[in-house]
Amino acid sequence: MVFVLNKSIIKNPALAEKGRLKIEWARSFMPVMELIRTKQLCKTKLKGVRIASILHLEAKTAVFLQTLADSGTEIFATSCNPETTQDDVAAALAEHPQITVYAWRGESESDYWKNIRRVLLSKPDIIIDDGADGIIYAHEKLSGVISQLIGATEETTTGITRIKALSEHGMLRIPVIGVNEGKMKFLFDNRYGTGESSVFGLLNATNLTIAGKNAVVVGFGWVGKGIAKRLRGMGARVIICEVDPIKAVEAYMEGYRIMRLIDAVKVADFVITATGVNKVVRKEHILEAKNRCIFANSGHFNVEIDLEDLNEVTTSKKKTRYFGLPYNDFLVEEYRLINGKVVYLLGKGRLVNLVCGQGHATEIMDLSFSLQFLSILYLIDHKDDLEPKLYSVPGDIDDMVARLKLESLGIQIDNLSAEQRAYIKRFK
Ligand code: NAI
Repeated sequence: MVFVLNKSIIKNPALAEKGRLKIEWARSFMPVMELIRTKQLCKTKLKGVRIASILHLEAKTAVFLQTLADSGTEIFATSCNPETTQDDVAAALAEHPQITVYAWRGESESDYWKNIRRVLLSKPDIIIDDGADGIIYAHEKLSGVISQLIGATEETTTGITRIKALSEHGMLRIPVIGVNEGKMKFLFDNRYGTGESSVFGLLNATNLTIAGKNAVVVGFGWVGKGIAKRLRGMGARVIICEVDPIKAVEAYMEGYRIMRLIDAVKVADFVITATGVNKVVRKEHILEAKNRCIFANSGHFNVEIDLEDLNEVTTSKKKTRYFGLPYNDFLVEEYRLINGKVVYLLGKGRLVNLVCGQGHATEIMDLSFSLQFLSILYLIDHKDDLEPKLYSVPGDIDDMVARLKLESLGIQIDNLSAEQRAYIKRFK
């Protein structure tokens, strides 16, 4: 059941007080966003801009959206995943006079798409997306919305891959800034953020020890690197599975064991996927898995562990380990297989760090959302010059976020002298 509050549609307005406290906590640890606000980097150019936000709806996102709204924008927000909204945060956010929320945890597939449609029909100037569901839906079904957009920003690797594919098919009609391409995003959010928060999700869901376990990380990109590092730090014996030979050599030089997934599952206590690719864990892997192996995913969509295959080789399944609020669900499922073994699936195969955890640490999202904020200003500043294509985050925006982060930490660094700058430009 959901409630309508002002124009918003949320789970329960009575949760707002808890949500306000969560947002207040997050705001206290987002100094870069605060510096952007206090230095008035946004000036008045955001006034009246309408934004459709399709981001995981939790406390750090709320600080970002409130900062945008306080700068004069009108926000229409939903989530980029039916299972990651924090209902207390959604309730608190809906109290802001310039923010309308259409989101609740556990949305059906059809409600998920209805909510995306609702935010897109709000006549947005800009879409902030995570995974590109909103951008692609608008291109396919809401041509009128696309023609009125200044542009969009995209938060994650999978979204960027989809925008590149749209562009290669000659179908991209708006400028999109790939925030994930910013160094201040992928070096920190994908690596450290997902590393820490995925391990938290794993611990939270299972209440099992990591130390001494065989942990298999599938994909050694930025996300996989972070997860492997944190698992090793907690004493796991980490095995990496890769399809890219260069990444495999890199993982080897980092001291990890490298195996094919079909071999690794035989000894795995945990398997975590982080590839952005579908059908990575298939029935042949599931059937070969060690008894009581735990499968989880940190990639954007719930496609990396093939759920159809899992169900096909299952004789019976049950929900196990109940989660209290805010999860309010059974997020560990036990599958008894046709060969008599048992395996477990965490968070329905969706991002384990958000579904079974609390998402990235606050200071990490401070960096990602500060890049988002400045990228939105860039879209507005350059709206007459930008073409319908995917742009990387401009280098000076990346630098500015890094400098604001150092300023917030009270850290000073050296600068190149004029002579040094000239020296590195010499060719003789
Ligand atoms: P990436 O492109 O840097 O790394 C992916 C790696 O997976 C590549 O090295 C690739 O060779 C490897 N790979 C692809 N298919 C494979 C297969 N079948 N078996 C083994 N390895 C395979 O991407 P990144 O940035 O690490 O992101 C990975 C996924 O995580 C994406 O879906 C991204 O959107 C998502 N993501 C999730 C976050 C979260 O909060 N859980 C945060 C940031 C990104």
